[in-house]
Amino acid sequence: MRYITTPIYYVNDVPHLGHAYTTIIADTMARFYRLQGHETKFLTGTDEHGQKIEQAAKERNFTPQEYTDKISAEFKKLWDEFKINYDIYARTTDQKHIDFVQAMFLKMWQKGDIYKDQYEGHYCISCESFFTKSQLINETCCPDCGKNTTLLKEESYFFKLSKYQDKILQWYEEKDPILPKNKKNELINFIQNGLKDLSITRTSFDWGIKLPKEINDDKHIIYVWLDALFIYVSSLDNEREKFWPAHIHLVGKDILRFHAIYWPAFLMSVDLPLPRFIAAHGWWTKEGEKMSKSKGNVVKPKEIVDTYGIEAFRYFLLREVPFGNDGDFSESMLINRINAELSNEFGNLLNRIIGMSTKYNDGKITHTGVLEFYQNELDIAKKHFDLAIDFLENLQCNRYLEELFKALSVANLAISKYEPWNLIKENKQNEANALIGLCANILAKVSILLSPALPDSCQKVAKALNFEISKLNYEKLILKHELLNFTANPCEALFPKIEKINSETKQEVKKEEKAKIKIDDFAKLEIKVAKVIDCQNIEGSEKLLKFQLEFDNKEIRQVISGIAKYYKASDLIDKQVCVLSNLKKAKIFGHESDGMILSAKSGDKLVLISPEQLVENGSLIG
Ligand code: MSP
Repeated sequence: MRYITTPIYYVNDVPHLGHAYTTIIADTMARFYRLQGHETKFLTGTDEHGQKIEQAAKERNFTPQEYTDKISAEFKKLWDEFKINYDIYARTTDQKHIDFVQAMFLKMWQKGDIYKDQYEGHYCISCESFFTKSQLINETCCPDCGKNTTLLKEESYFFKLSKYQDKILQWYEEKDPILPKNKKNELINFIQNGLKDLSITRTSFDWGIKLPKEINDDKHIIYVWLDALFIYVSSLDNEREKFWPAHIHLVGKDILRFHAIYWPAFLMSVDLPLPRFIAAHGWWTKEGEKMSKSKGNVVKPKEIVDTYGIEAFRYFLLREVPFGNDGDFSESMLINRINAELSNEFGNLLNRIIGMSTKYNDGKITHTGVLEFYQNELDIAKKHFDLAIDFLENLQCNRYLEELFKALSVANLAISKYEPWNLIKENKQNEANALIGLCANILAKVSILLSPALPDSCQKVAKALNFEISKLNYEKLILKHELLNFTANPCEALFPKIEKINSETKQEVKKEEKAKIKIDDFAKLEIKVAKVIDCQNIEGSEKLLKFQLEFDNKEIRQVISGIAKYYKASDLIDKQVCVLSNLKKAKIFGHESDGMILSAKSGDKLVLISPEQLVENGSLIG
């Protein structure tokens, strides 16, 4: 049983990139659990009470309920357009939730965990969070969002948070529930500084859940975070026994404290079990800057999806940053990933398989001979699959994708290395067919494992090769390492290439006079001979070639070089070239480049520099 949740989103504003990010990770995880055969529930929804929402509604001349109905529907519509496969769309204004929160409040009260007192301190309306003066920045601003806080002095009910301090620490110790693991220490420090009892009711506005009638105090409404957190349980209805506790609460780093400190304390107070994991992702900036309405740089997920498609958007968000780190959104990077990875590695492999199998074997693809001729490639791909699964289990989505794309490269490189067209010429039909069988099986396995992240594209592959993405095939192809036969059907390109807006590389040769250097400066350069093992065009770029170079001790490195206009990729294989080998690694057009191939330019001509005679690979040039 797996229950995964996103935070429920505040309806004070329309959905933005941050919301889409959390929701897409959760959707990917839920699809992954279903693929593995777990009975899964995936909750998302909206957080509709509180002062911030009341203010937003007023500013727009709506009643809070009208306003929350409208924005909540917008969130839902967007997730439906994005084909987010949620099971529960939860709203805190639903009567069943209101009843549940009141029942829980009463339970805490009856347990003696709630008492009435006076609250005096600062409140950030934007974060719906309380602070003491010493926690503020410059004595007025919220330490989390930087906005001005308001000074509050009002009667309030308090929850005995301090009572649960040690129990929360013990939970961290015993269950290690916080992901990524390095976030745990921040929380421990926060707790060890001493937890203050938490104000859990407000009296200065109305838009919230009233106290249970048994307490008979109409002035108060329940603090929005206490209200909101209980949505995770209230929404399960009669499936509570089955799905609670949650497997993962997925949250942004800014709301980890609420989920990892307040929430377990509330749950302990009402005798409910604690969630297995609380996983906090980082924040997105736009081209290096924090997104904000005033700067006008807020990324609107719908606009991106309308331009590039939901699958490319999903891929970019999941692939771009390690889980837990902050990420930067740039359209140019998105285009790079579409062209270099989705189109070049994924789409292209499908094209090649369909093209070759149609040409050589009427679209029939068999796995006969795969084990005989290509066991090694299969073994390498298998390692990538195992790693991909491990990474995804731990929410390391970027590394999961990285492994699957490495498996795609195994297939793509096998085609360049064994050259099926030559095998056919040499009458080695069996080897050629087995090679296509190898590639199709790798692609099918990748598509099964990739389907949680890119459901539609993987379905297209399944249709083109005539197999099913299912739990059964997950077990057969991934867990039991079986191979399939396929029949190829024509299909349109998976990820058509996108024209890039700005210049692709900035490797312009500068012609200015260079300053004289000393021999010591020259000694800093390491220039070596290397042999070209593989060379391919980079799709979407007219200039770039991607080399696999062999140095000494059979070390293979990838180097990108802007010489496609001057050489045909296949002509360079087996040539020796000279490489500046201690250049810092760089990413060019989305591809890692570890070195620089040396060439001479004369007018419009460019020629590679090669040793005059064959020498050992890795020989030093000086
Ligand atoms: N309503 C609360 C959650 C209650 S859960 C019981 C809330 N809502 S929110 O709409 O403000 O934020 C929802 C999520 O969006 C948070 O996980 C937050 O981290 C995330 N993001 C908001 N801006 C973001 C970025 N710029 N980048 C990534 N995620 C960000 O908090």
